[in-house]
Amino acid sequence: MSTGELILGIESSCDDTAAAVVAEDGTVLSSVIVSQASLHDRYGGVYPEVASRAHVDKAIPAVRMAIEDAGIRPKDLRAIGVTRGPGLIGSLMVGVDTARGLGQGWGLPVLGINHLRGHLRSADLNERRVSYPALILLVSGGHTLLAHMRDQDTISLVGSTRDDSVGEAYDKVARMLGLGYPGGPVIDRLALQGQDRFGLPRPMLGDGLNFSFSGLKTAVRRLLESDPNLEAADVAASFVAACLDVLTQKCERALVEYPSESLVIVGGVAASPQLREVAGKLCESLDVKLCLPPLKWSTDNAAMIALAAWDYVRAGQGTDLAPTSRLSIEQY
Ligand code: KG4
Ligand code: ZN
Repeated sequence: MSTGELILGIESSCDDTAAAVVAEDGTVLSSVIVSQASLHDRYGGVYPEVASRAHVDKAIPAVRMAIEDAGIRPKDLRAIGVTRGPGLIGSLMVGVDTARGLGQGWGLPVLGINHLRGHLRSADLNERRVSYPALILLVSGGHTLLAHMRDQDTISLVGSTRDDSVGEAYDKVARMLGLGYPGGPVIDRLALQGQDRFGLPRPMLGDGLNFSFSGLKTAVRRLLESDPNLEAADVAASFVAACLDVLTQKCERALVEYPSESLVIVGGVAASPQLREVAGKLCESLDVKLCLPPLKWSTDNAAMIALAAWDYVRAGQGTDLAPTSRLSIEQY
């Protein structure tokens, strides 16, 4: 491996400590993800202070493992890309400080990366999938948004949630049903055994490209309060059906408004088999290419941060290393 062909990515914006080594063409040489899910399970969501402390323990071991797994030495790296936001401020600070220290020790530039741009690039990991113009549906624990990309460098936000993200709604409904954290995978599995029989609201379905999920969450709470003996699988199936109706209808509307070659679905909820299936049908009917990241890179990881960092290298961006809890997808 010759010098300068690789970027080390570091991700610690929420509850996963991750490090990865990625080449400019998207080839992933290593990807290490240390999950903290078991630490947060008892709280039914991420406990920020616990998350920061766990990042302190795991950041360096994760980097060491990523370098070892890739079979490289630090001198083979061109730069370090680290998530600087959006996310939990304490967690971000740990990642950025770790990257700064390593950059100084190894004589490497450190680039501050927007986590949302990382998710965007996850669909091109290990294989180029996205063709432009592209419509992006980003569905994670922290965000639910639609963006249009005229080309790989031009991003316009065209819709976003007014309140909760869809991932947050999954997590809160899972908590109401006593299913633990994170809620997405367990709700999906349970939903497969139930029926959509409760006619839950589809918030803002007929209305533009913005989303709202807090009303749906409240509707589930009221439903459970009205009858504590309801079949949990039917509640999960009704909830998932409502989410999917909203997500697919908004994508369809956005694809009419912003004609695109690909629909790119990224973020933790893109791991949902149900969402993958309905999106596949939608794209088939509209003759649009569906681009999805491999399952393991739908949820938070550092490979996507490293690939995004290559964009920053080309654009001469990433000098701002200040951790920030808020950052738009349109910003670097
Ligand atoms: O992208 P991500 O790992 O972290 C953020 O940037 O927020 O997304 C985490 C979210 C959680 O809300 C989790 O419940 C959801 O993604 N999630 C899923 C699935 N796997 C994770 N939601 C639905 N179905 C899944 N299989
Ligand atoms: Zn994320």
